[in-house]
Amino acid sequence: MARKTSPVLPGGTLAILGGGQLGRMMSMAARTLGYHVRALDPDPSCAARFVVDHCITASFEDEDAARELARGADVVTLEIEKVSLASMRAAGEFAPVRPGPALLAIVQDRVKQKQWLVRHGFPVGPFSIARSAKDVARALRESRKPVFVKASHGGYDGRGQAFVAAPDMAAAAWADLSCKAAVVEHALDLKQEVSILVARRPSGQTAVFPPSQNHHEDRILVYSVMPAPIPKRLAKQAEEIARGLAEALSLEGLLVVEFFVTRDGELLVNELAPRPHNTFHGTEVGCVTSQFEQAVRAICDLPLGSTESTRPVAIYNLLGDLWAGGEAPAFDRALALPGVRVHLYGKREARPGRKMGHLTALGKTPAAAIDLAMRAKKALEVSGSRVRRT
Ligand SMILES: Nc1ncnc2c1ncn2[C@@H]1O[C@H](COP(=O)(O)OP(=O)(O)OP(=O)(O)O)[C@@H](O)[C@H]1O
Ligand SMILES: [Mg+2]
Repeated sequence: MARKTSPVLPGGTLAILGGGQLGRMMSMAARTLGYHVRALDPDPSCAARFVVDHCITASFEDEDAARELARGADVVTLEIEKVSLASMRAAGEFAPVRPGPALLAIVQDRVKQKQWLVRHGFPVGPFSIARSAKDVARALRESRKPVFVKASHGGYDGRGQAFVAAPDMAAAAWADLSCKAAVVEHALDLKQEVSILVARRPSGQTAVFPPSQNHHEDRILVYSVMPAPIPKRLAKQAEEIARGLAEALSLEGLLVVEFFVTRDGELLVNELAPRPHNTFHGTEVGCVTSQFEQAVRAICDLPLGSTESTRPVAIYNLLGDLWAGGEAPAFDRALALPGVRVHLYGKREARPGRKMGHLTALGKTPAAAIDLAMRAKKALEVSGSRVRRT
C-alpha cells in the first residue's frame, strides 16, 4: 500500500546499518546528492568508515548503538541483512527505517523467506526444511539428486551452505553448518542465473533496472553483465515477478531478486536481497542512474531515477586472492584498456575470497563487455615489481 510521506531532501541526514562496500557506495552517492551520512558497523575499519561523516563501531545486536545512529537522522536504511530486528525497531523510535523490520523478518531467515514465497504464489524450486542431519539425508534420498543445504541465518557468498551429494555426507555437513534449521534445495540443472533490481518509494512509485546475467563459480559471483542477453519474454516475466514482490512486501527501498533459469526454461526465484547488490554494480557506468543513487532516492521518497541502460556493461569481482604474495594487482595495465574502470572498496586487508573491488567494462554488446572485462582481469594478473599495498 502506498503511503503519504514527505521527502527527505538533500541536506538531510541518512543513517546506514552496515558499513561494508555497499554502505560505502551508497554513502558516496548520498554525499554527491548533498546528504550527511552516518553508518554503524562492528568493524572499526569498515569500508564505509572513510566516506561517512560519522561511524559508530558496534554490533548489529546493540540496540542502544542503533538508537544513537538514528537519533537526529531523517531516515535509516541498511546494507546487510544480518542486522537484528530489535536494533531496527530501536532505530525506528527516532526515524523511519526503510526497508523496515517487517520485511527484514521475512527476508533474513531463509526458511521464512522460502515459505513466504510459496504462500504468496511465487515460483521456487523443490525444497524441504531440515532441522537435523536425518532430515538432510531424507531430503537427499527423496530428491535423488545432490542438494544444497542452506542455513536459515547468516549466509552470503555461498557461506553457510553445504553441497551434499551422498547420504554419508549429511552428518558432517549438518555439523559444519551448526544451525537450528536449514533449507534443503534440489541441485537444479541451471541454464542461466539472472537478477532484477526493483526500487520502490514509500509513496508507491516503482522502477525496475534491466536484468543482469550472473556467472557464479564455487557459489560466489565472478562476473555479471547488463542488460542480460536473455529473451524479452523471460525478462518481462522476471520484471513482473519483481514488481509483484515489491508490492506484496510493501517495499521501501531496493529489492534484488536472484533468479535461476533451468535447462527446461523455468524461471525460479532463488533469493531476495532488500538492498543494493553486487550484480548491479554495473549501473554506475552503464545506466542513467546508479543503484546507489536509486537507493537514496527510494528511501528519501524522492522521484526515482531513470533505469535506462546507456551501454552494455560487465563487472568482474576482484577477490583478495589477487593480492596473494603481497603484490598489488597491475591496475595500470587494466586501466590502459579503453572502456575499463576500477572500483576499490578501500579494505585494509586482502583475504582469499574477500570482495576487494570490481572492474567495469563497457561494450557495444553484452558479449563485448564481458570479453573486455575478462581481458582487464587478465591484465591485472601480470606480475612485476610492484608496491606492496592493498
Ligand atoms: N538449488 C541450487 N541449484 C543449483 N545451484 C545453486 C542452488 N542453490 C545455489 N546454487 C548456486 O550457488 C550460488 C549461491 O547460492 P545462494 O544465492 O543461495 O547463496 P548466497 O550465499 O546467498 O550467495 P550470494 O550472497 O552471493 O547471493 C547460486 O547463485 C548458484 O550459482
Ligand atoms: Mg545468492
